[in-house]
Amino acid sequence: MALKIKHLLGLEGVEKKDLELILNTAKSFKEVIERPVKKVPPLRGVTVVNLFYEPSTRTRLSFELAEKRLSADTLNFSAKGSSVAKGESLKDTVRNIEALKIDMIVIRHSSVGAPHYLTKFASSTVINAGDGAHEHPTQALLDMYSIMERRGKIKGLRVVIVGDILHSRVARSNIWGLKTLGASVAICGPTTLLPYEVEKMGVDVYHNLDEALDGADVVNVLRLQRERQQAGLLPSLREYTTLFGITRDRLKFLNSNYTIMHPGPINRGVEITSEVADSESSIILEQVTNGVAVRMSVLYLLRGGEEAKS
Ligand code: CP
Repeated sequence: MALKIKHLLGLEGVEKKDLELILNTAKSFKEVIERPVKKVPPLRGVTVVNLFYEPSTRTRLSFELAEKRLSADTLNFSAKGSSVAKGESLKDTVRNIEALKIDMIVIRHSSVGAPHYLTKFASSTVINAGDGAHEHPTQALLDMYSIMERRGKIKGLRVVIVGDILHSRVARSNIWGLKTLGASVAICGPTTLLPYEVEKMGVDVYHNLDEALDGADVVNVLRLQRERQQAGLLPSLREYTTLFGITRDRLKFLNSNYTIMHPGPINRGVEITSEVADSESSIILEQVTNGVAVRMSVLYLLRGGEEAKS
């Protein structure tokens, strides 16, 4: 079986079959990255450019490692220190990079739709590594893979996403992906940090954390972007922590077998306490490990790779 999509721009509209193919194929790559020799040849001769216009630790390192594990040649581009500082446009930058004879572009950009724009004129395969507050599809895929690994399923689970949903590309991609795979998704945060008419995405909406957590199987905690307080969207960080912070005390509302997630980077003591972030129920570092396997799967399948027959 091969992927129907040609680029990975977001999870909105991606079919269940494609999501399952990516997650199943990632299982084989998870085995690869646990071997003493963590390298396989399928992308030999393929050149991938990691085009980062915004800061990143996890996504950037994870993509670079995934490309290397698949034997691709990788180029890393940061807007900082490049000719973008001299006013070069995104289109000109990409056209010049493509003149170097590359095959795939992984792009993170602060503008919503930047990856989609690339597909209008570039001939490379495009992967969205986060576009503004829109989507972060590989983060959601690795989140779903991590849920599958820990819980054995996604269908029927109650997943609660807590925090700044309004500005979160992680939340959007998770909502689309989780719903396609049959999870029940709830979101919780202050009114000022929830998108207008978000319930139209098919989620349950809460402003009271204890009510949201009632009977939840998985809690995905989002980073509270501190600049939101300066923007007047929050009275104070202390109040946010009191009302929406994930503390040990709050976990009593969850199902007895619960799982805690966070895409990183964490603000310890703001949206989650260290005690919870570092607890047995937390899979935060497994998410990072699984990111490599999932990104290997995406790169491999978008280059025409097929699911390994067992
Ligand atoms: N989760 C995530 O996207 O982290 P980075 O910003 O470090 O890539």
